[in-house]
Amino acid sequence: MLKTLVPLSLVVLGASSVKAQAAVWAQCGGQGWTGATTCVAGSVCTALNDFYSQCIPGTAPPTSTSPTTGTPTSSATGPSASCASPAPGSGTLKLVGVNIAGFDFGMDTTGTQMASAAYPPLTQYFVGKDGKGQMTHFVNDDGYNVFRLPVGWQFLTNNVVGGTINETNLVEYDALVQTCLATGASCIIDIHNYARWNGGIIGQGGPTNAQFAALWSAIAAQYKSTPKVIFGVMNEPHDIPDIKLWAGSVQAAVTAIRNAGATTQMILLPGNDWTSAQTFISDGSADALKTVVNPDGSVTNLIFDVHKYLDSDNSGTHAECVTNNIEEAWAPLAQWLRCNGRQAFNTETGGGNTASCITYMCQQIAYQAQNSDVILGYVGWAAGNFDVSYVLSELPAGSGSSWTDTTLVSSCMAPKAGAQKGATS
Ligand SMILES: *[C@@H]1O[C@H](CO)[C@@H](O)[C@H](O)[C@H]1NC(C)=O
Repeated sequence: MLKTLVPLSLVVLGASSVKAQAAVWAQCGGQGWTGATTCVAGSVCTALNDFYSQCIPGTAPPTSTSPTTGTPTSSATGPSASCASPAPGSGTLKLVGVNIAGFDFGMDTTGTQMASAAYPPLTQYFVGKDGKGQMTHFVNDDGYNVFRLPVGWQFLTNNVVGGTINETNLVEYDALVQTCLATGASCIIDIHNYARWNGGIIGQGGPTNAQFAALWSAIAAQYKSTPKVIFGVMNEPHDIPDIKLWAGSVQAAVTAIRNAGATTQMILLPGNDWTSAQTFISDGSADALKTVVNPDGSVTNLIFDVHKYLDSDNSGTHAECVTNNIEEAWAPLAQWLRCNGRQAFNTETGGGNTASCITYMCQQIAYQAQNSDVILGYVGWAAGNFDVSYVLSELPAGSGSSWTDTTLVSSCMAPKAGAQKGATS
């Protein structure tokens, strides 16, 4: 769709000129950039930050140097001009945080976990990393304001499928939630089961929607009076045979959460393909999940959950990054969200502590901030109980009140790094 916005003249020009004009949404400047620095007609080269300038649809140059007006206000050309119009984002993301992993350990992508394999990221329960110290540091020193707290369904119910929460295990997980809340941050409860229980897909041969709803009913009852708890319905569904049936399972969870009394908190709705931001529209997740509603028929605080890594296969397993995801994922997603009056939250992203990831991550964050009207924020993967040698480690080194961040966090991901401001000067 965005490709069709490139005029034919560009193709002709590109064959003969030394330096072609950059296409709509393409990069046109930034530190180290050696490609085209002018944009095709109908778009303006706009600096999102020191690292990245981009051709944004419009005809007028920015009229102010303030971060939020770096985007022109005239409307785009093309079939969806009204919702393809330049982002009215504030330049600052609402929720930015880190995943604090541990209660999900032992979970594999078939949704199988032995409850005893969970490693609480709290030193009073496990001789591991200091999740409390990490979160306190991230809030106080870096300006983060949300944490995602992955947990296995098996851990919460002590290996019993359904919604009967094991009180002993809940005391431990709730300690992490309360520690998170005590920092002043918002806290995402993430059921990290890949839409499955021990290999069976929820609502499609595995646990019933009623069993899944019972789990969420029990969790929501626990946190119904806690406004800063966010309900992450499911981590990374994948290989789902029927996306409409999956939307029905998500609907069952939403209904259960609201009916348990958690009527106002955010609920995160996950699509297929590992919740990829890039395939959210093409794989049918967007159309299926947009039908999910609150009991009153509204979609208030029903937010789409999307993940995206920056490595060669979007797996988040490589130290080097190869893309900022803008053209292939964030630009089309932002447009779809705007056209449909919805918002998304990027609850997993990350990269190695390498120069390539610093460059691309800073670009991604600047773009997300430019689109903060439809993208709420991002949550880095990951800190918590990982080893510091983990390729995507965001674990700060240190203890007590003295911590040192990884270079990707300190250069880009921490709000205090400034990448999300999208400032032009
Ligand atoms: C709860 O889980 C613990 C393990 O953490 C187990 O020892 C206990 O028997 C479980 N309680 C119930 C009622 O199943």
